[in-house]
Amino acid sequence: MYYASKISRRFQRPQGNKMGKAERLDKLLSNLGYGARKDVRHWIREGWITVDEKPAVSPSQKVHPDRVRLGNEELDHPCGLTFIYHKPSGTVCSRKEGGRLIYADFPERWIDRKPPLSSVGRLDKETSGLLIMTDDGQLNHYLTSPKQHISKTYAVKLDHPLTGNEAELFGSGKLMLESEEKPCLPAELSVIHPTEASLILHEGRYHQVRRMFAAVGNHVTELKRTHIGTLSLEGTRLADGDYKTVTAAELMGMISP
Ligand code: URA
Repeated sequence: MYYASKISRRFQRPQGNKMGKAERLDKLLSNLGYGARKDVRHWIREGWITVDEKPAVSPSQKVHPDRVRLGNEELDHPCGLTFIYHKPSGTVCSRKEGGRLIYADFPERWIDRKPPLSSVGRLDKETSGLLIMTDDGQLNHYLTSPKQHISKTYAVKLDHPLTGNEAELFGSGKLMLESEEKPCLPAELSVIHPTEASLILHEGRYHQVRRMFAAVGNHVTELKRTHIGTLSLEGTRLADGDYKTVTAAELMGMISP
């Protein structure tokens, strides 16, 4: 509990704990995906980099990220990168697997950042909807920790009409998924149409929604994550494939005001 409250205080600050700590200029620019250290040497020679409005003098000079300009421009999210993304169906939440990757939707420079950008949890290839992306490992860990009880809501379309028993079973805390030893935590099902429903989960198991419906003899034909806590996809107004950067503090407010 101490850990959780300490972390959440940290996220109330504007940029997590990365408050523009001084670091080597060449390391900073290469970690932000601008180029190799030799490129930085070249840019210094050309006078393209300024620090506190004065030309940079050395690749090894210690700089505060928010005081550096490259070609007169501020650096791209120099103190951490977190954003909300509307994942389209058919894209993969991975850097290694084949197929169309979610990373194709982001600026190339972001892909080369260190620490690397990762998704907060994953959505299946055929699932669309809300996904949080961050380069902040502690924020990622915090948001995925079961201790935080951040619910996820899914809009589900089904192959067969619901029978009427699903809501009680899903809410019972007794539903067993194939090859698992513990039953699912109670989940809330709201029926919208005989073949459409909304499902709120309080945990995140592998392919959980699809497997829950498979356990009652149905098949999910379309799946979209509409909410993470109180953050709604509708509220973000993000079209498929679009994203919006936020600070960790803003994000925390969106997920649970
Ligand atoms: N449940 C699933 O089955 N798939 C997802 O992508 C998320 C939850």
